[in-house]
Amino acid sequence: MSAALRIENLYAGYGQAGVLEGVSISVEPGEIVSVVGANGAGKTTLLNTIAGINRPSSGRIVFDGVDIGHLRAHQLPARGLALVPEGGRLFPFMTVQENLEMGGFSRRGSPEFRTALHDVTTLFPILRERREQYAGHLSGGERQMCAIARAVMSDPKLIMLDEPSVGLSPKMVGEVFLLVERLARTRGLTVVLVEQNVQEALAVSDRAYVIDHGRIVREGASADLASDAAIQAAYMGL
Ligand SMILES: Nc1ncnc2c1ncn2[C@@H]1O[C@H](COP(=O)(O)OP(=O)(O)O)[C@@H](O)[C@H]1O
Ligand SMILES: [Mg+2]
Repeated sequence: MSAALRIENLYAGYGQAGVLEGVSISVEPGEIVSVVGANGAGKTTLLNTIAGINRPSSGRIVFDGVDIGHLRAHQLPARGLALVPEGGRLFPFMTVQENLEMGGFSRRGSPEFRTALHDVTTLFPILRERREQYAGHLSGGERQMCAIARAVMSDPKLIMLDEPSVGLSPKMVGEVFLLVERLARTRGLTVVLVEQNVQEALAVSDRAYVIDHGRIVREGASADLASDAAIQAAYMGL
């Protein structure tokens, strides 16, 4: 089976400042892969570069068999690649339902649109309850769920999550990650999860990469990394 996403020797940064220093990552269809690392390691830069928000200075980004390194951010959702940015970036003065509708915008009016809306609110029942509320009034966990559901509305093959645990209580982190897992398993969605919360990310993912100063320094089965003494000492406070 060919990889859903393959990053080869990716370099990217801001102006003269290099951030990613030759990152290579491969994600198989249906896998949950996490990229974990400290604040400033380059996780957001990596996701934003894959999502076409930053431009790579060199290297390749192959998604679903196509080199997407030259595409812009707005071209990617239609190809099946969705990004949930850090904090969710919902439209605060739009209702939950309106935010979800924005996610399915390219399919609006199509017969699948109603089904998609029904499906995501079945998966995230709290969003059905809150559908008339302004997104700006949601709790942190609800906001994160709404942002994930909005991305799912575009019917992605692969969804990238930038630190969904930020600002959430440990209990909420557990709930959000459980939903991510259910999404992947029930819909066959491929997930790339970027996290500073290493323990939780390793618990939910199949495989993981550790990024440090823009380089991948470790990779392996998440369970193996989670029981590795060096990883525990450096990232899990154990
Ligand atoms: N817009 C920007 N302009 C300049 N430097 C940036 C910008 N965004 C991030 N950086 C720098 O790039 C490095 C990696 O940041 P980032 O990708 O946000 O890391 P992470 O998401 O792992 O915390 C950091 O040194 C950060 O200061
Ligand atoms: Mg970040």
